[in-house]
Amino acid sequence: MCGILGYLGLRNGTPIVHEGLKALAYRGYDSWGMAVHQDSHITVQKGIGDISKTEPLALHSNRVIGHTRWATHGSVTEANAHPHANMDKTICAVHNGIIENYAELKAELQKNGFVFASQTDTEVIPHLIDFYMRQGKTFEQAFKATLERLEGSYAILATHANEAGIFFAKNGSPLVLGLGQNEYFVSSDIPSFLPHTKTLVHLEDGDYGAITNTVTIYNKDKKIDRQPSTAHWDVEVAKKGNYPHFMIKEVNEQPLTIRKALNQPKELIKQTALLLQNASTVFLVGCGTSYNACATATYQFSKSGKQTIAVLGSEFSQQIPFIDKKTAIIAVSQSGETADIIDAVKASKEKGAVVIGICNVPSSTLARMVDVVIPMNSGPELCVLATKSCTSTLAILYMLAFALRGKDTSVLTEAADAALHVLKQHQQTMPELAKKIANAQNIFAIGRGALSQVAREAALKIKEVSYIHAEGMPAGELKHGSIALIEQGTPVIVFADDETRAFSTSNAMEVKARGAFVIGVDSKPSPAYDFHIQIPALDDATPLLALLPVQLLGYYLALERGCDPDKPRNLAKSVTVR
Ligand code: F6R
Repeated sequence: MCGILGYLGLRNGTPIVHEGLKALAYRGYDSWGMAVHQDSHITVQKGIGDISKTEPLALHSNRVIGHTRWATHGSVTEANAHPHANMDKTICAVHNGIIENYAELKAELQKNGFVFASQTDTEVIPHLIDFYMRQGKTFEQAFKATLERLEGSYAILATHANEAGIFFAKNGSPLVLGLGQNEYFVSSDIPSFLPHTKTLVHLEDGDYGAITNTVTIYNKDKKIDRQPSTAHWDVEVAKKGNYPHFMIKEVNEQPLTIRKALNQPKELIKQTALLLQNASTVFLVGCGTSYNACATATYQFSKSGKQTIAVLGSEFSQQIPFIDKKTAIIAVSQSGETADIIDAVKASKEKGAVVIGICNVPSSTLARMVDVVIPMNSGPELCVLATKSCTSTLAILYMLAFALRGKDTSVLTEAADAALHVLKQHQQTMPELAKKIANAQNIFAIGRGALSQVAREAALKIKEVSYIHAEGMPAGELKHGSIALIEQGTPVIVFADDETRAFSTSNAMEVKARGAFVIGVDSKPSPAYDFHIQIPALDDATPLLALLPVQLLGYYLALERGCDPDKPRNLAKSVTVR
């Protein structure tokens, strides 16, 4: 995780980088920091927690590098916040990724008299550069020699007080250049510089180089040209507008984003469905919410006569022996940077499998490595919680499953229309429900069939944003253990539709008899429900709608409990570590 951003140009980069880091805070918000250059001096500013409540230093600088951190090595302290420096503070570096051999490098440097000020893996970088400079190398040569010693994944920016430029390197973590008028940006993600330029250069693994009054890129010792492209995202989409939080903005965007997800070239869906049809086995791979969307969709694929297996990215290695040229993999990732998904795709490609990617960031690592990419078209998802990307994924997977059985997508378009009504209606009811259950110790969510997986996603949304322990499971499983936790007033959310209502409401009655407060997400009322969240009956598309009120509930629970919905503790938007 973590986000990095560098600015070099004619304007004052200090407020520009400070502002840009706010747009990267979704990648980590444990702490932040900037190295501000003035003549031959570097001033470092660091802070713990949320950058949005802070002001940048009043220093005018044409060269600034910055970082926003999701802690991996070392706790959340100012000492561990980036940038990290060498001993005389002439070299500064910021880093996203993990230096796997840092302990070995640190021991070697310590033997050579280098004193460390933090517990991070990153700090080896400025010291190693220093080490090589002391041996007579230039800053550029020392930077390159340092890269040759690093094992692991990284996007790095490094600067020297007495040398021009920002040096950069990418290996396994995202890094993109922004080319403005007489100014350059280098960043983990586009929204950090979108207000200033839409002209980009995506860097590839193994790229390194320098930004001076121009940009020089090398890969494997060869100078290379990377073609600029134009960002399709709008600055306004990356802003909250009139909403207090990105979460509620993104939840409310879903009537539009579901439509955009469905708006795929016919030929793309037809050809992808053909690939799936011809495959001996289809795996759907995702992590977190993306996995839940995959698991929900497997029920539609089964209806189409194609058995698909949903696998968690982190557990994918178990399946590798079963992958060959006849296997198709659908890898789902909003960010397209989740390390476990990238690993799964690499392993599948090595075995010759066909890999289809569903992702939201068009320039992401995943989008660039798969055989076929289906874009989610959700626009930037900046709240750490996945909401609109989940329904977009579901819409696309359903469209593929429907294509396999020649079913048209009208019910999915209807769902996009109905979403508007569901959100409007429950914007009123969910604050009331959130008040009622905000002090619960545990919340359970149950359902059958595809709705059992919607229940898992509902629980994930509630727990990560409100910190109330929540568990989602197939309704039939509840009485095999978890029912022991039902007490007077324990909220149990029951998802039901025409196919599953009979059994699911029996399960609801079982927990109600033990004191549970039963919340039914259903098109019809039931005596089992103490609180009824009414949604339209939309047959196969019900899971798309059932999730929406619970996303709202999670949001209002967070507000009731004083939690920041956009930045839940300990989380980061893209999980680029294993
Ligand atoms: C939950 C959430 C995470 C992500 C997971 C995968 O709200 O945001 O569980 O879904 O980290 O991320 P992507 O889809 O970017 O691979």
